[in-house]
Amino acid sequence: MSDALSLEPYLAAVERIEPVRWTGQVTEVTGLLVESRGPSVAIGDFCEIQTSAGRRIRAQAIGFRNGRVLSMPLEETDGLQLGDPVCARSQEARVEVGPGLLGRVIDGFGKPLDSGPPIEATGAYSLAGVAGNPLDREHITQPLVTGIRAVDSLLPCGKGQRIGIFGGSGVGKSTLLGSMSRHNSADVTVIGMIGERNREVRGFLEKELGPEGRRRSVVVCATSERPAPLRVRACFVALAVAEYFRDQGASVLLVMDSVTRLAMAQREIGLAAGEPPSQKGYTPSVFNLLPRVLERAGNFKKGSITGFFTVLVDGDDFNEPICDAVRGILDGHIILSRQLAGQGHYPAIDILHSVSRLVSAIASPEQKEAGRKLRAALAAYRDAEDLIQLGAYVAGSNPALDASIRLRPELLDFLRQDHMTHCPIDETLSRLRVLSAKLDGSVPGGAPGVPAVASGGSRSAPSAPAGPVGPGGSPGGAAAATPGANPAGTSRAAPAGIPAPPSRTPAVRPPGKT
Ligand SMILES: Nc1ncnc2c1ncn2[C@@H]1O[C@H](COP(=O)(O)OP(=O)(O)OP(=O)(O)O)[C@@H](O)[C@H]1O
Ligand SMILES: [Mg+2]
Repeated sequence: MSDALSLEPYLAAVERIEPVRWTGQVTEVTGLLVESRGPSVAIGDFCEIQTSAGRRIRAQAIGFRNGRVLSMPLEETDGLQLGDPVCARSQEARVEVGPGLLGRVIDGFGKPLDSGPPIEATGAYSLAGVAGNPLDREHITQPLVTGIRAVDSLLPCGKGQRIGIFGGSGVGKSTLLGSMSRHNSADVTVIGMIGERNREVRGFLEKELGPEGRRRSVVVCATSERPAPLRVRACFVALAVAEYFRDQGASVLLVMDSVTRLAMAQREIGLAAGEPPSQKGYTPSVFNLLPRVLERAGNFKKGSITGFFTVLVDGDDFNEPICDAVRGILDGHIILSRQLAGQGHYPAIDILHSVSRLVSAIASPEQKEAGRKLRAALAAYRDAEDLIQLGAYVAGSNPALDASIRLRPELLDFLRQDHMTHCPIDETLSRLRVLSAKLDGSVPGGAPGVPAVASGGSRSAPSAPAGPVGPGGSPGGAAAATPGANPAGTSRAAPAGIPAPPSRTPAVRPPGKT
């Protein structure tokens, strides 16, 4: 009986066949909008316009006006004529999926872009997904390791968590996503490149992702010159592909670059359909789309979809509408700072403004405590930075700040990381532990002369503080390690790199008290 013919694939194929052909006719074309009499479609359905030259132009129904269907083409409209037939193609709202997608680059239609063979499908997934019951979601308890020290230690992320990466243009959002995509501990990475620059795609695939990252990734790509509905569709294709792998039991990392450009595409569609523009011209359908996309990531019974979504912060205004709306939906945000990027501090994560809302569920009490101390040290330095730069701070007046100043090069070295290197979680946590102990003063490494681990490397942290090194042993000197520091100020505040006298003696004498 084991040889019995399996009818499953045939039945699945029959399911996908549309027995009735609904057609209409083009009656008007205005800009990006095609108006037609029929066919019978619902909003979001896909249609196909047959030109007299034999070309088929795929379009998506976006609304109705005076009894006519309004649709937006997903392809160039060359050759479109009045009266051309429009066919409803509801099966277009699905994407074919299968294990063969791994390692491939596909477009917004789910077709290969990488000149490889056609993708062998084992099924089709709905782009809209299946509306889930919120109670079916599992708690997020397992960490997802990204390989980025600053994230894994201070902003740990759980499997199924959704995190936004916010930053102005060119501060390193895509580069950070690339590093995370290459080194993370998920089984599969699905990368949606929505509305990004055409030239960036190849660079991302070859440099950021690399061959090892590509092997376990699926890249869905609709660059900025593609029609708006195709850019939006590509986002839903990425979601459907992620859901397919999740249903196979995999832990999936979904990376979307960028949500802002997705919102811009939806704004284009909304405005063409005649929606009223609101803040920054964004239409109501944009704010309806965002939760529909962002809420599809999460931790489920079978597998998980962890989401990293980049948000371009227009004019560095973190209160702009998309930024605000996305921040409200997600479970954490990583803020990238232009100031840090300008100082060559990469990844330019502004730790003090970034939050991972599930840290208490994911990190151990020890990690949380160490993270709290590091944050406190960074905050103490930030609050007193002007005084330190001016040389007005008197060492010894605030022991916590003294430790923060002394350890600043080591802290910065810990937070900085070359985008090609990966830091194993054990190393990240051991360095965090060492730094926290030094801040406490329980390890003599807080004293001057203890060498820090080389910048950006992925070598192991010293498990115990190494022997004394001369004053020059500190990395790079304070001026280099504290970007923008005023050398005059540093000489007074005795930052790291300059040996401080024993703790009771003020490191710097107040002016006039020599
Ligand atoms: N980790 C890093 N190390 C060194 N340089 C970096 C790093 N991250 C970013 N950069 C520099 O910043 C530039 C812009 O980075 P990236 O393209 O990632 O920014 P972006 O925020 O995605 O920009 P956009 O908003 O235009 O998409 C890079 O070309 C590179 O020069
Ligand atoms: Mg980018």
